[in-house]
Amino acid sequence: MSEADGVTLYEAAGGMPFFERLVELFYVGIKSDPVLRPMYPDDDMAGAQRRLTLFLVQFWGGPMTYMEERGHPMLRARHMPFPIGPDERDRWLVCMAAAVEELTEPGEIRDLLMGYFVPAAEAMRTDGFL
Ligand code: HEM
Repeated sequence: MSEADGVTLYEAAGGMPFFERLVELFYVGIKSDPVLRPMYPDDDMAGAQRRLTLFLVQFWGGPMTYMEERGHPMLRARHMPFPIGPDERDRWLVCMAAAVEELTEPGEIRDLLMGYFVPAAEAMRTDGFL
């Protein structure tokens, strides 16, 4: 699966339903994490869920709805308001890895997803200048 053979990870993984489910499971984890839960908007968890879903859909080759609704992702800038150090990064990754492991078999799709999430979560740290 690659741009060259014309199949995006978005399609190979199962399209919109896959990413909706992935982020739904991810937020089950977030809601039960005492450190991360308070960082997310109490009154707009559905909105947060939608933003992450649409970002991932776009990132992996699906529809560009995220960009239409939110503009350029500027993810580092959007995370600046939050205190993200190694502990927050690891907790975030635990939630995401659990969701990925529940929805995928060992193999290429899982490896591609985690191969992105691990360094991206590190890049989102706000406790220093990279
Ligand atoms: C792979 C790494 C990550 C990706 C791809 C990612 C992606 C995103 C996206 C797309 C948004 C919504 C941006 C917007 O349109 O406003 C967001 C918001 C947020 N992220 Fe991350 N993030 C990552 C890592 C982290 C980490 C490590 C934390 C640690 C706490 C974190 C905490 C948050 C919080 C609190 C929000 C605000 C929720 C909201 O209202 O949308 N993120 N993230």
